[in-house]
Amino acid sequence: MSDTNIYRVQPSWKREGTIDNETYLKWYADSINDPDAFWGEHGRRIDWFKPYTKVKNTSFEGDVSIKWFEDGELNISYNCIDRHLEKRGDQVAILWEGDNPAEDRKITYKELHEQVCRLANVMKKHGVRKGDRVTIYMPMIPEAAFAMLACSRIGAVHSVVFGGFSPDALGGRIVDCESTFVITADEGLRGGRTIPLKENTEKAIDIAAKNFVMVKNVLVVRRTGGKIGWATGRDFWYDEELASVEPTCEPEKMNAEDPLFILYTSGSTGKPKGVLHTSGGYLVYASMTHQHVFDYHDGDIYWCTADVGWVTGHSYIVYGPLANGATTLMFEGVPNYPDQGRFWNVVDKHKVNIFYTAPTAIRALMGAGDEFVTRSSRSTLKLLGSVGEPINPEAWEWYYNVVGEKRIPIVDTWWQTENGGILITPLPGATDLKPGSATRPFFGVKPQLVDNEGNVLEGVADGNLCITDAWPGMMRTVYGDHKRFIETYFSQYPGRYFSGDGCRRDADGYYWITGRVDDVLNVSGHRMGTAEVESALVAHDKVSEAAVVGYPHDLKGQGIYCYVTLMDGEEPSDELRKELVAHVRKEIGPIASPDKIQFAPGLPKTRSGKIMRRILRKIAEDDFGSLGDTSTLADPGVVDDLIENRQNKH
Ligand code: WTA
Repeated sequence: MSDTNIYRVQPSWKREGTIDNETYLKWYADSINDPDAFWGEHGRRIDWFKPYTKVKNTSFEGDVSIKWFEDGELNISYNCIDRHLEKRGDQVAILWEGDNPAEDRKITYKELHEQVCRLANVMKKHGVRKGDRVTIYMPMIPEAAFAMLACSRIGAVHSVVFGGFSPDALGGRIVDCESTFVITADEGLRGGRTIPLKENTEKAIDIAAKNFVMVKNVLVVRRTGGKIGWATGRDFWYDEELASVEPTCEPEKMNAEDPLFILYTSGSTGKPKGVLHTSGGYLVYASMTHQHVFDYHDGDIYWCTADVGWVTGHSYIVYGPLANGATTLMFEGVPNYPDQGRFWNVVDKHKVNIFYTAPTAIRALMGAGDEFVTRSSRSTLKLLGSVGEPINPEAWEWYYNVVGEKRIPIVDTWWQTENGGILITPLPGATDLKPGSATRPFFGVKPQLVDNEGNVLEGVADGNLCITDAWPGMMRTVYGDHKRFIETYFSQYPGRYFSGDGCRRDADGYYWITGRVDDVLNVSGHRMGTAEVESALVAHDKVSEAAVVGYPHDLKGQGIYCYVTLMDGEEPSDELRKELVAHVRKEIGPIASPDKIQFAPGLPKTRSGKIMRRILRKIAEDDFGSLGDTSTLADPGVVDDLIENRQNKH
C-alpha cells in the first residue's frame, strides 16, 4: 500500500447483506466479463410490467447508441411508490425538515401515493401528455419530489431547474426543451431569507415568449404565503387543483428507453446542455448504487443534503432511495442556519443513519470549530458520504475523526450529471479507504486513463479519465442535439466516454480525481462553464471582452476569476466591479458570483486570436514564475500589465 493513511472498517460494523471485498471482486469481474448476464440479473431488482428479453445494446463508436433493457416496460413512480404500499404503506417515505427548525413533515408511502396520483391527474387535466416536457422550479419541499414522480407516472419528461438560478437561466431552459407547463412555489425559503420563485418564473415566461415558447400553465405551491403576481387562466394554486381531482391514477406503461428527465449542465463551451436520462437503466443503476454504496438496509434513515435541482438530488434524494423503499430526508435549509451545528442537530432529531454531503459544506463546518459538532450525539450515524468535488485529505480526516468519531466509514463518490449514478466509490464493507481517493469502480464501470494524445496509460499513471464501456445509468443523448452529445463526450478520445476530469491511479489501482481538465469550473460543488460567465460579462454594455478562469479557493474548492476588458472610454472602478458582480448574479444566479475581477486593457492572445487561458490561470493562481512560452503571443507586453494588477497577490 502507498504512503497515505489507510482506514479499514471493523468487521463488527458490517450487517447481513453488506458486500465484502471478496463479493466485490467477484461481482466486479462478472459485471465486466459478462455484462448481459450481470445486468440481466440485477435489472430484476425493479418491477417490470413487461419483462425485458434484451439487456445491453450499446456502442460508443460512430453514431453512439445506448440502449438497456430495450424491450422492457415499466413505470418509475410505480417502482418508487406502489410496489412498496403493501409492505410499507405506513412507513415514512419523505421526512422533511424545514428551514425553520420548528417545522417538519412526515409523508408515508401511502400519502406519497395519493399526492403523486392527484398531481398526475391535475397535469392530465391541463393537457400534459406522455412525452411533454414539464419544468420544475421549486424550493426543497416534498412537492418538488411529488412533481418529479407525478411526471414519471404519466410519462411526462421533467426538467428540474435549481431554485437558485436566475430568470434568464430558467427562461433559457424552458425554451430549450419547449416546456409549456411549469410547477413552482410562491417563494422559497433558505437560511431565513425568501427567494422570489414565482416572480422569477414570470420573468422567465416573458423571456420564453420572446423566443416563441408559450408557457400555458403555472402551478403554484403555497410555501410562504408571500404576495405574488397572478395571471388568471394561466396560474393555478397547487392545493386547490389537487383537491379537485381523483386520488388515484393508473401509472403509464413506459418503455425502458422512454425519457425520464432532462437536466441542464455546464460544459466547456456554449449554453448548458440538456442531459437526457431514460427510464429502465437509470432506475436500476440509481437503486443499485444507492443500496450498495451506502450499504442501505431496510429501516435506515437516509439523508442526502443536495438540492433536487442537481443530479445528486435526482438519483440520491428521490429515485434511488424511493425505489429501495427507504426513508429519505429532505432538507429545505442551509448548513449554517440557525447556526453551524444544524446538520448534526438534524441528525440527532431524526436519528439519521446515513449522511451524504459535499466537501464545500464539510470545509465550511470544519472552519467553524469542533464544538458545533461535538455538542451533538450523532450516535445513530453509521455511514458518511461525500460528492461533488475532490475532498482534500484534511477535510476528509476531520469528517472521519470529528464527525464520525473514527468509527464510521466515508464513501467518497465520484460521478457526474451525465452518469446518472455513482461510478467510482468505495463500498464501505469492502474497500479500505484512503483520504482523498474515490478508490475503485462500481460494478460494470471500466475506467481508463489516457494521455492528451489518447495513448492508454497502464498501471500507476496520471491522465484523462475515460470510461470504455456503457453502464445502465448513463445519459443517452443531449436533448435535441445528438451531434453535440457525440462531439462533447466521444470525439476527443474516439470509442470512449471522456469525463472531462483528470485522474491519477496509484499502485493499489485506486483512483484519485484531480479535478476538471477542461474549461468547466467547480465552485462549491456547482458546475459552471467559464464560457457562461464570460457571456454574462460581455452582455454588460461597458464590457468589450472577458476571460474567466478558476483558482484554488479554501472553502469553495474553486473561485471564479474574471479578466475584463472595458469598452473604449469606460474607466475601471470598484463601483463598476460591484456592478459586474451584480450583473453576473442576475444573468446566471448567485452561485456564479465572481470572486475576483481584474480590469485588463488587453488579454494574452495567440496571433490567430485565441485567448491563452494557461497564462491567465497561472496569473490568477499567483504563480506567474512558470508562465511557460509566451513568445507565440500577439502582444507579449500585455502579460506584464496582467501580472502587475493581479488580484490574488499572496
Ligand atoms: C466533480 C455531481 C472529485 C468532477 C455528482 C465531476 C468530483 C463533476 C467528485 C461533476 C468526487 C464529483 N471527487 N470530483 N467524489 N464528485 N466531482 O455533474 O469534476 O454536478 O466531473 O455531478 O464534479 O459534477 P456534476
